[in-house]
Amino acid sequence: MTKNIFNRPQMIKLNTYEDDRGALTYVESNQLIPFDIKRVYYLYDLPRSSIRGGHAHKELSQLIIAISGSFDVILDDGQIKQCFSLNRPDFGLYIPCMFWRELNNFSTNAISLVLASDLYYENDYYRDYEHFLMDKQELKE
Ligand code: TYD
Repeated sequence: MTKNIFNRPQMIKLNTYEDDRGALTYVESNQLIPFDIKRVYYLYDLPRSSIRGGHAHKELSQLIIAISGSFDVILDDGQIKQCFSLNRPDFGLYIPCMFWRELNNFSTNAISLVLASDLYYENDYYRDYEHFLMDKQELKE
């Protein structure tokens, strides 16, 4: 079986132009990221103590970018937790489906931009951790 590098979460360096006028970063569907961008949303006005996420997705893939400030994304594959610190607008964290995620440790003026592979469907969410674990285990067997 071909090893698909996009089976796992990873930081992706985004295409960026910088000159003395400033910096410009862009993201295109299916270039550097393995999906069509069908939805964009962003989190802002985040209290430092805020905890976001607390769910996993059945099918959805996402790219999360700290376009301002910094925050942490903790990803859990059901066995191992990995913490990614996002603090640069020219890097995105790619998250495949079936990873439980939590976002916390927001700095002042943090903005989390999320590019998603599909529209918002509540039935794509696992909001119950035990349910997520059961289905993740079944996928592995
Ligand atoms: P929620 O899933 O709690 O956000 P987070 O990922 O930060 O935990 O979403 C908050 C509310 O917003 C919830 O009622 C669903 C709604 N929502 C949409 O309507 N469309 C969207 O694209 C998203 C991401 C959320």
